[in-house]
Amino acid sequence: MNSKANVLIVEDDGTISLGLEKTLKRDGYKVISVESGEKALSILSQEAIDLVLLDIKLPKMNGFQVLDRIKEIEPEPTVIMITALHDVPEVVKAIRSGAYDYIPKPFENETVRQRVRKALENKQLKKEVMALKRQQKERYPANMLFGNSPQIKEVKRLIELVASTPRTPILIQGESGTGKELVADAIHNSSARATKPMIKINCSAIPELLLESELFGHEKGAFTDAKTLKKGMFELANNGSIFLDEISSMKMSLQPKILRVLEDHTIRRIGGIQDIKIDVRIIAASNRDIDKQVQEETFREDLLYRLKVMVIEIPPLRERKIDILPLAKIFIEANNKEFNKNIQSIAPEAENLLQNYNWPGNVRELKNVMERAAILADGDCLKPEHLPLELKPGKSKSGAFPAPVAEPVSAPAESHLDQSLQEIEKKHIIDILNRHDGNKSKAARILNISRSTLREKLKVYGIS
Ligand SMILES: Nc1ncnc2c1ncn2[C@@H]1O[C@H](COP(=O)(O)OP(=O)(O)OP(=O)(O)O)[C@@H](O)[C@H]1O
Ligand SMILES: [Mg+2]
Repeated sequence: MNSKANVLIVEDDGTISLGLEKTLKRDGYKVISVESGEKALSILSQEAIDLVLLDIKLPKMNGFQVLDRIKEIEPEPTVIMITALHDVPEVVKAIRSGAYDYIPKPFENETVRQRVRKALENKQLKKEVMALKRQQKERYPANMLFGNSPQIKEVKRLIELVASTPRTPILIQGESGTGKELVADAIHNSSARATKPMIKINCSAIPELLLESELFGHEKGAFTDAKTLKKGMFELANNGSIFLDEISSMKMSLQPKILRVLEDHTIRRIGGIQDIKIDVRIIAASNRDIDKQVQEETFREDLLYRLKVMVIEIPPLRERKIDILPLAKIFIEANNKEFNKNIQSIAPEAENLLQNYNWPGNVRELKNVMERAAILADGDCLKPEHLPLELKPGKSKSGAFPAPVAEPVSAPAESHLDQSLQEIEKKHIIDILNRHDGNKSKAARILNISRSTLREKLKVYGIS
């Protein structure tokens, strides 16, 4: 990176800045020179600058004022201040204000070259350490994609295939809890971008205007709350990947901008007039049928086609039953460590229950069920009594209807039959909500009802 780094020189003495520019250009840096703080800030708002050589004595805005503003930029460029020789108080102030280093005037070209190289190497090193830490976290076995079904093998094959391409976008489709985020992580981590950032954003969790500014950033003053320049996630993910989770929730008005990133690899901050080149792999995920949304005109066909260049479908757990027990065993092992238990086997009856359940919440649900079992189990064998009621047969085989073990409900009942159905429904809704941390959108999706229907039911059953 060092030889291609972007350096900004802020120096009002033309002779000095010309000398600096020549020296640094010879070392292969991209160099921009300006003679005032105001101009420097304007450049910084438009370009990704890695390092700033900043003179303290400037007309109007001085170097310290500029430094204060630079500190607000995300990610922050490294700053080397240019000070007058022996001006100790200034040097101290510069370092305290967050400058990385200082160079006293007059200086030799060689000094500048060394200091700039060192500063950039340090910056690169920091980045690599961060990336390594992130990778280590992700290498933890709990984050690996397990399963030996032909379907999971195919998913793994596609991950390898797509990871070896430089920038092909990917659309990951699958029900809630099937492992979409896990697959996205695997793609990023096995690609050449692994040491670069992987930025994740859930498009359904953020209101539209905010989502746009999160993704694309904004210039200072672009809207009332835009007090400072903010880089968006696309810029932060530069050279890495961006995970657009639940892309199907993205509003139509924002979709053309994503299409533009895919086609031109440029973005524009809100309120900005400049296009900024970026190099990011887009990994999108959806648990809804986007084709249907195209028919309903809530998703742009051109964007879907662009995303569909490469699709990874993760089938629901109930369609790859041979993954259930191996996954259960992996989760048991992890839980043994976590809860200091010693579960060594699963009783055959419990195995049957696990295998015959419908798993509407997929692998996430299985993981949660195994965690609950680990807490309940006291011996070395996992038994049916450690499994939740909805896995127990006799009533309905589908995971969508658990055994009607009734708790008293306050809902009005017209007959005994209605009463018990409502009880089942109430219990099931509570259960699904619990299992998804109270997330109503997810619960509604799993229950296959609209959010408004779910809201009504919560009201009727007095579930808060
Ligand atoms: N094949 C797998 N092997 C191991 N763990 C898995 C597997 N699939 C999913 N998991 C685990 O299940 C949980 C849910 O996975 P993940 O968050 O990736 O699902 P998702 O498809 O993104 O769900 P949602 O649509 O609800 O966001 C995670 O804890 C993940 O580690
Ligand atoms: Mg997810």
